[in-house]
Amino acid sequence: MTIALVYGGRSTEHEVSIASALTVHRALKQAGYRVLLIAIALDGRWYLQPNLLSKSIDATIPIHAVPGLGLYVQDAKLDIDAVFATTHGYGGEDGNLQGLCMLCRLPLCGCDTVSSALGMHKHLASELFMQALIPTVPTLLLDKNAVQQVEYTTLLERARSTLGPDLFVKPENSGSSVGVSALKDCDAKALQQAVELARRYSERVLIQLLIHPLQELETAVLETRDKGLVVAGPGLVIDPAKETVGFLSYEHKYGKVDTAHIRIPSGLDDTTETIIKNYARKAFLAIKGDGYARIDFFVSENRIYLNEINTSPGLTDTSHYPALLASVGYDLSSVCKHLVENALL
Ligand code: DAL
Ligand code: MG
Repeated sequence: MTIALVYGGRSTEHEVSIASALTVHRALKQAGYRVLLIAIALDGRWYLQPNLLSKSIDATIPIHAVPGLGLYVQDAKLDIDAVFATTHGYGGEDGNLQGLCMLCRLPLCGCDTVSSALGMHKHLASELFMQALIPTVPTLLLDKNAVQQVEYTTLLERARSTLGPDLFVKPENSGSSVGVSALKDCDAKALQQAVELARRYSERVLIQLLIHPLQELETAVLETRDKGLVVAGPGLVIDPAKETVGFLSYEHKYGKVDTAHIRIPSGLDDTTETIIKNYARKAFLAIKGDGYARIDFFVSENRIYLNEINTSPGLTDTSHYPALLASVGYDLSSVCKHLVENALL
């Protein structure tokens, strides 16, 4: 059976995606699959890769998609049973790639168009979470028009009165902590800078209550045929830099500095762990999730908040999704097997 491993992409998470692909490549091979490597260059073009997966993309064999038929190199159709995409963020995790696969009749491991789009758009997802009675972080949404016409002194007053003095500003649809700012008791100028930074990555911007002190907890879900939806974790994120930056930065997620890691079991009491697990399960169902996802929470002063759902979680050597699943007996190659089985159902 042949799995097309698709990675790279146009988003700010291009490099993370390649790192995820490296571990998934190994895991798919261990599980006994033949793997076709397909890299998406930074300009969005797709290329077949030689057997070796590397950071630099070989742009000699372009691929084209023919809706209704499949993926082609020139006139030759690629023989693919399912696609595993480790693409993150824009274009790769937001439903677009997923839609292309569906149009090309390629079964996809993981979330489909709708659930990917919902997972990527944090505000849309949180509306569904609220409907499912899952507590989320108090948030103000700046939509496209609001962002263009905003008057920052008024916005700051509104944010302070509805959320509090300390704020967290982030793009509505991007990942890996790119474009986020933690603002403690800020002025209008600092808020403006934070909104403008987030705007570089997303049309809509979220202003949230900066919850502190907090503990970050992560859960991982996997659909299996024999046991149904497996929920692993929660694990506690140990972040060496939390005190200084106030959130888990891109550098800390991907090992550019002292890497954050996850402690499993989390050390929380059993009741809190059970509640978090149930929220994770409900959140996955709320977005109509398929296959797998990582669902992140905050816990502060005995309150639980769902932070976000990641429908294409990082799968690098240091990523938390594989560690969480390993803690309940699923190594990455068995995770891949379940995802392929689920894709072919
Ligand atoms: N967006 C990154 C890859 C994650 O959440 O794991
Ligand atoms: Mg995330």
